[in-house]
Order: sequence, then C-alpha cells, then structure tokens
Amino acid sequence: MCGIVGYIGHRDAFPIIIKGLQRLEYRGYDSAGIALFDGTDINLAKTKGKVEDLKNKSKSISQEGKIGIGHTRWATHGIPNDVNSHPHYSNSGDLVIIHNGIIENYESIKKELIKRGYTFTSDTDTEVLVNLIEEVKKTEDVKLGQAVQIALNQVVGAYAIAVFDRNKPDEIVVAKLGSPLAIGIGEDEFFIASDASPFIEFTNNAVYLEDEEMAIVRLGKEIKLRKIKNDAVAYPRIMELQMNLEEIEKGGYDHFMLKEIYEQPRAIKDTYRGRLLAEQGLIRMAGIDQNLEKFMNANRIIIVACGTSWHAGLVAEYIFEDLARIPVEVEYASEFRYRNPVITDKDVLIAISQSGETADTLAAIKLAKEKGAFVFGVCNVVGSSIARESDAGAYTHAGPEIGVASTKAFTTQITVLTLLALKLAKEKGTFSQTQFHEFLTELETIPNKVEKALESNPLIEIISDVYKESTNCLYLGRGYNFPVALEGALKLKEISYIHAEGYPAAEMKHGPIALIDDQMPVFVIATKKGHYEKVVSNIQEIKSRKGKIIAIVTEGDEQVTELADHVIEVPETLESLTPLLTTIPLQLLSYHIAVMRGCNVDQPRNLAKSVTVE
Ligand code: AGP
Repeated sequence: MCGIVGYIGHRDAFPIIIKGLQRLEYRGYDSAGIALFDGTDINLAKTKGKVEDLKNKSKSISQEGKIGIGHTRWATHGIPNDVNSHPHYSNSGDLVIIHNGIIENYESIKKELIKRGYTFTSDTDTEVLVNLIEEVKKTEDVKLGQAVQIALNQVVGAYAIAVFDRNKPDEIVVAKLGSPLAIGIGEDEFFIASDASPFIEFTNNAVYLEDEEMAIVRLGKEIKLRKIKNDAVAYPRIMELQMNLEEIEKGGYDHFMLKEIYEQPRAIKDTYRGRLLAEQGLIRMAGIDQNLEKFMNANRIIIVACGTSWHAGLVAEYIFEDLARIPVEVEYASEFRYRNPVITDKDVLIAISQSGETADTLAAIKLAKEKGAFVFGVCNVVGSSIARESDAGAYTHAGPEIGVASTKAFTTQITVLTLLALKLAKEKGTFSQTQFHEFLTELETIPNKVEKALESNPLIEIISDVYKESTNCLYLGRGYNFPVALEGALKLKEISYIHAEGYPAAEMKHGPIALIDDQMPVFVIATKKGHYEKVVSNIQEIKSRKGKIIAIVTEGDEQVTELADHVIEVPETLESLTPLLTTIPLQLLSYHIAVMRGCNVDQPRNLAKSVTVE
C-alpha cells in the first residue's frame, strides 16, 4: 500500500500535499516525494525515508505552485531509495505520475519502450507506466486523458494513479483499479488522495472512484468520470463524509488490527497477483525461478522465524512435506542461533519475518550463511534487513501491518509459502499437472472464501462476550490446523492477556485433559478435511469432562455441531489451504475479547511491533 495525494486549486499546493502525506504514512513510509508546477517548471523532490525527510529535501526546490502531487511509498518493485521513490517523470519531463498498486506486465512493456528509445532511471513499474502514457500521447496524438485511458487498457495489475502534464497544468488525470482513490471537492479546488484524511479538514464532499474508472480533474469544471475500458460516461457519486481523521486512517474500523483482519482478502490476492497464473498453469516467482536448483538439490529446508511467523513456518512444514516431499524442520530462530546446529551447503534456510528486522531471525540467517546454506527470505517490508541479508526471497504484499498482533502477515506468509511448495512439487513431479492446476484454481478462490469467513463476525462477537472473563483457554487442532491452534492461542494471550495454550488435539490425553472442567473454554478446529473423526472423538472426551467447546467447522457440518457449545463455520477448501480460513475466526475472537476487556488492541502492553533486540 502507498499513499497518494494531489491538489489543484487556489491555495499553495506544497503544505497541503506534505501534510496530506504525513496523514497517509500509515499506508507506507519507506520513501516519499512531491512534484509541483510553478507556472513554468515541474519542481520535484523525492527521498528514501519519511515525509519529514522529504520536507528537508524539498528545501532545495521551489515550493511554489497551485498544482502538485505527492507520494509516500510502500515498496513492492524496487528497493526503497531516492531513485525508486515517486513521483516519476516521463522521458520528456512533461509528464509526472504517482501510483499506488502493482503493474504486473511492466517488464514486457518496458522492453517495448526501450526498443522505442526510452530510458529508465528506476526499477519501478510506475516509471514504465508514465512513459507508456507518454508514448501513447505522442503516437496517437491525443490529450493526456485519452492517453491515460489507452495506456491503462494495455496494463494488467492494480493502480490508483494521478498524472499531470506541464503543458496543461489546469488538470490532473486520475484512474483506479484495485487501489483506493478519493477526490475531495472544495470551493474552486480539488484534492486527490488514497483516503479522505488529507482533505477532510478542507471539505467533506468527496467522490470515491470505482474500479476501472478514471477522471479528469480540471479547475472550474465539473469532474468528468469515464469508464477506462470503453470511455463510457460514469456519473460521480458525491458523498458527504461524516468520519473524523482517526476513523479515516483506520478505514472506518475501530482499530488497525480489525482493519488488517478485513484486509486479508485483498492482501492474499495482492500476494499471489502476478505470481499465480492459473490459466497458464504457472507459478512465476523470480526469487525461486533464479535459484530453483538450490531447492531441488536441497537435503532439507530449515525454516527459522519467531512468533506468528514461526506458526506460518509450521504450516509450511506440512505443505512442503505433503506436496513437495522435501524434508523440513522448523526452528525458533532464538533457539537455532545458539544450539550449534548442523548446517551444510546442501541446506536451504527459509527465514520468515513480517518486519524483516527481528534480531533473532537475522542472527539465524547470518549463522546459516556462514555455514554455506542458501537463504531465502519471506518478508513484508521491502528492503528490510532480513530481505537484504537473504540470498533471494519473495515479498508478501500485505501492505503495512500497524497492529502489533500479526494477522494479514500470517495469511500472506502462508500464501507465499504455498506458492513456493506448489512450484517445487510441480518441478519435482510429486504433483501432476491436473493436481497442480486444480490447486491453483482453488487458491484463487481463497480471497472470496476469506470474505465468507469474515461474515461470521457478528456471531463471533456474541461468543466472545460469553468467554471474555475466562482465565485460561485451550486451542486444539490436528495436522495443518495444529499450527493454527498455536496461532489462535498466541493472538488471544498477546492482546487480551488471557493465558492460552495451543496443542495438537491428540496430545490432550498426555496431560492437558487434566485441565478440563466447566471453566475451561476449548477452541477446537474441526474442519471436514484433516482427521475429522479423530477430532470428533477428542471433542467427545472434552464434553464428557464438562469442557466448553467452541468449534471451527466446515460450513454444513452436523456431527460437531451436535456436540459443541458454539460452532463457527468456514467454507470448504483443500486440506492444505484450511489454515488460511480457520485462522480468521480465531483472529476475530481474540480481537473482540480484547476489546471487551478494555485492552489496547493495537499496542498491547509489554509488546513491540518488531523485536529488533534479543
Ligand atoms: C505476532 O502477533 C507478534 N506480533 C509476534 O509474535 C511476531 O510475529 C514476532 O515478533 C515475529 O515478528 P516478525 O514476523 O516481524 O519477524
């Protein structure tokens, strides 16, 4: 996620854009930039770092101008540095663009533009897009609006863009597909932004573009909305906003954690976007494609991580061994780094980290590299320490995760690891083409199935109210859902401060069953696929000891529904994909219980978002 801001009107654009970017930093903060038109020239400043750094960098340019655009970046293509920051010029210097999203086919477009004499200074997809627009404008001899429309019909991906032409500085062209874009409508002025927070103090009249819509925002004129595909007229739906600033940053949710739980369908889709090509029966991941032999010849895969990322690693262990038949061991990074592990150059080490800054995980990587292992990083923050220390990697595209409790990081990590395991299974021939294709097709249904699982939120809130005063909870799961039980327990304890333990369901008899009484809520994952009958007998053992049973079941379940005190349904999917769905109700349960207990959900006591010290 990035933050975009634009202004055209009677005020100085600079302070409005800078302040607007500061309000959007929660969307991305690894680099920032601004471009202003002072009546003669486009003056542009951009820098790695935060908006505060941009303010300092901007002292070296003219800050005059009533039209401008600004950007705060969450890197997806190209590491965070000055050159890759937005805005980006076209080759002629006439056009300047900002973009939030991912252009999947930018490489092929870039190759064609290079053939036509274009040069590029950055590694970004955005610089390709602005030069495609310029090329269309020149070759078709059309105005900016039409050039944008024609160009966007040639790209595949997601975007919210704002672009203006120094030769026509009374308009800004915007377009949206998959990333948010709002236009604030003031008295003889317009604001453009990823959400209303940059302009809510100036106006609460706004138009939110729908997907595949574009607009020419011209001073003194009504906004002209068009459908990108066919230029059909679309009619602006002007809304009068009632939200305050804080509500806008949280997207109208009460907490960042809840917002991020609800972002998971989009985050999972963004993570496999451009990588999962189901129609062609392909998975395309540069970090794997360029290092395939390392994985194919590996004696084993060692996964190191901490916390929730370690739970994602446990899910990956089941997936890799089940699908790709590669031996896997999963280690707490903090233990691995000190136990003098046996590591050889035939090992592949996968380091999983949302922040990419966790000290123990970083140390584990360094140890593995010293001993010759190949290191593959799975991070959410582009250019983070772990990403840079790894030999190769694949980013999750979850966008910034602000809530301390990891939610969308977990499901997007599993998504990346599933793609990796699938690709290796296909290469090793442990998966037929038909199985592979069926799996990819099912994976594409997961965002919608997560949406469906989220619909249980009202029921989950009611269940949370029943158990919010508990002092101890047990979480049980088998197979792929054993790590989900651990993750559910971690979520509850870290934000509600209730003691909770996750266990393999079969382990009950080896001790924990002594804890069961009518004061012990037991959250059991009992989906149809994955040792269902055995989990049913575990549930019966709990019930016979008066334990309270809250079961996560496959929609339409009858047997467990008869036995449990409460059931929460999730859609059916492949056994190895169930963690992406069964974790959703457990995230919501922990969220609601924590809120009902008056806990600080986004910043729980004693915790930090990134543990950069031992
Ligand atoms: C999970 O909700 C916690 N925030 C914590 O366990 C976290 O997963 C752990 O500290 C690892 O962080 P990382 O993914 O940034 O490395």
